[in-house]
Amino acid sequence: MRAEAVEFLTAYHQEHDVPGLAQRITEVLDEIDLTGSYRHRGEELVYGSRVAWRQSVRCIGRVRWSALHVRDRRDVTSVAGIARELRQHLAEADRSGRIRSVMTVFAPDRPGVAPRARIWNDQLVRYCGWPAPDDSVLGDPAQHAMTRAVLRLGWRGPDAPGRFDLLPWVIETATEPPTLVAAPRKLIREVPLSHPQYPWFAELGLRWHALPVISNMRLRIGGVDYSCAPFNGHYLSDEIGTRNMGDVGRYDQLGVVARALGTDIDREDNLWREHAALVINQAILHSFRSAGVRISDPHTESELFVRFCEQEERAGRPVYGDWSWLNGSVGWAALHAVHHRYYDTRVPTPNLLPTTRPYDAAGGVGATLRDLHSAAHRELA
Ligand code: ARG
Repeated sequence: MRAEAVEFLTAYHQEHDVPGLAQRITEVLDEIDLTGSYRHRGEELVYGSRVAWRQSVRCIGRVRWSALHVRDRRDVTSVAGIARELRQHLAEADRSGRIRSVMTVFAPDRPGVAPRARIWNDQLVRYCGWPAPDDSVLGDPAQHAMTRAVLRLGWRGPDAPGRFDLLPWVIETATEPPTLVAAPRKLIREVPLSHPQYPWFAELGLRWHALPVISNMRLRIGGVDYSCAPFNGHYLSDEIGTRNMGDVGRYDQLGVVARALGTDIDREDNLWREHAALVINQAILHSFRSAGVRISDPHTESELFVRFCEQEERAGRPVYGDWSWLNGSVGWAALHAVHHRYYDTRVPTPNLLPTTRPYDAAGGVGATLRDLHSAAHRELA
């Protein structure tokens, strides 16, 4: 922690030309000696959160990093308080569809013990994956385990399961067990999908939510972990059109759309998958645009990312990136500049790091935060 803190403070003071580095380092190191950790100043937290985005190797939208709106909610530690702040986050990010990038940072983890709060959902808006009779999944197969977890926690669910049922939130803290909180339907914008040329497309009954709010990554700044720090950007069409709708392990719609287009799906030499994916992506862009919801297309996003790379290089910084993630979501990848270069694959901090999910494939629960914190208390006593 000491080394990472020094590195972080140095970067902050240098990048912003803030005086008083030596003094701040002494102060922080003393605080670490005394308490085992240190508290970021408000400005440090904002800077650290933005740099965490700037260094996120999987994100193609990073040109916007310095505009991230950071909500410092480190003093909010109860389930009810966190739920209230998550609702506020949705409202501040949505802005009637003119989506802005927002991060809400809750209390840091207790070093060496456990997070002080944790959200089980991987995103704040997700659709249930219900087991269907023929061993398939109704809804989003990626949420099958989470759906089982919320049922085990006692969620009643809708009377008739559908393909786009909002999952409730599960929030737990150092003193409260995993708790169900209903998703705030009125704050969640959704877009029904239609296609500008094919009237039948709307009849497929597909839809998607406007906001991707990732809620299960750990924000790490200067050696301090914030396991509860949900953040959002806005969508790139391929994330929904190619992956969420197209992947065989997700909504698996390529065959459905290809058949509706009258394409023979028993051969490969007619590129029916590509054709269907293209049509779905057009539908995503068209539907979001008509609904007034911010969305990016792959061509523009690739151009913007190249601009980001140039900015970073001019600032004398490496361009960190994971090629497969950056290109996995930009349509016909080789058409775009982002495809034709390599990236520094290191993951420095500040950053946003993956966490292990708190429930297993059957929705079963492991050790709760409450258990972990009280075990640490007993050890101390
Ligand atoms: N790919 C994820 C999804 O489809 C969202 C990841 C974050 N994307 C973003 N544009 N910020 O839900």
